[in-house]
Amino acid sequence: MSERDSDLVLAVETSCDETAAAVVAGGRTILSSVVSSQVELHERFGGVVPEIAGRAHVEQVVPVVARALAEAGFDGAGRPLPGAGSDRGIGVVAATSGPGLVGALLVGVSFAKALALAWGAAFVGVNHLEGHLYASFLEDPEMALPVVVLLVSGGHTLLVAMHAPGAYEVLGQTVDDAAGEAFDKVARFLDLGYPGGPAVERAARSGDPRSVTLPRPMLDEGLDMSFSGLKTAVVQLVTRQPDLSTPDVAASFQEAVVDVLVHKVLAGARLSGARGICLAGGVAANTRLRERVSEVAHAACLPVYLPSRAMCTDNAAMIAAAGHVRLAADGPSPMDTGAEPSARFPERA
Ligand code: KG4
Ligand code: ZN
Repeated sequence: MSERDSDLVLAVETSCDETAAAVVAGGRTILSSVVSSQVELHERFGGVVPEIAGRAHVEQVVPVVARALAEAGFDGAGRPLPGAGSDRGIGVVAATSGPGLVGALLVGVSFAKALALAWGAAFVGVNHLEGHLYASFLEDPEMALPVVVLLVSGGHTLLVAMHAPGAYEVLGQTVDDAAGEAFDKVARFLDLGYPGGPAVERAARSGDPRSVTLPRPMLDEGLDMSFSGLKTAVVQLVTRQPDLSTPDVAASFQEAVVDVLVHKVLAGARLSGARGICLAGGVAANTRLRERVSEVAHAACLPVYLPSRAMCTDNAAMIAAAGHVRLAADGPSPMDTGAEPSARFPERA
């Protein structure tokens, strides 16, 4: 019988509205990555419905994990398939333990713990935000540390200096709404659809980003950020002037968010002496943000790492990579690890 290898990690991600599983070798090589999106289920409600998300994860987790195992060359017991080229079995099962929706997280955590027990593998609970940091790391093996990572997702906006795998320092964060949340709320207000970020980006393509004057909150106030006032400014403006063109409003709003994010990430890179700039999280899929961050990084002679769009949004490969780091630093997680819906970013300098 094949031995189990603790460098082979199967990860399960069910924190929000994607059911995902991936197998990653050595924390860096993606052997498979499967994502099943629930966007169509939540679309008609204009946002994620937690109860529906939990049920869909229950339905999807077995087929998604089975596909990830098969595509990576493993059978349902995490053992190498005949002729797969490896004689080692999967030694670690990781799952996102938080932050996220409690009913959604519980599906992945319970499933991963059960698999680990049945296989005799280690279990590791992973912080979802820490997972996002590893997107660039997985795609750019040459990345030199330290880097500054702008993590912009639907629930969080953090500016983190990553000194080494597992060693992070939070430089700044939003004091109210996350950047993605602002995109989602503005999209809902402008009736652009769900998910909001891509909808605003699409509308903005035919708009003029200088047509509407909007604030750039907290621009010169350290590295923290604020997006709630900007969203309110859009609502007040459009309520006062209902004839404004929606593409113009969308483009001006997007430009204001991007101006703030670009300013902060560059300031964070300077302050922390970073050797590169990384984007992570769903909002990092935004084309205008990617263009503008590339421009400023280029001007500052810093390499920029832009994960593919699939790696920016929720996936399990990033959870596997973070799980690999976590296991090396702390060992396996206890079997009574539960869902931690409000888990904070694990700052460890
Ligand atoms: O990282 P993610 O997939 O899930 C969370 O952990 O939150 O991020 C989802 C967020 C949503 O707010 C979505 O509207 C935003 O990322 N997003 C975008 C774009 N694509 C996704 N925001 C702006 N432009 C985009 N192209
Ligand atoms: Zn996420």
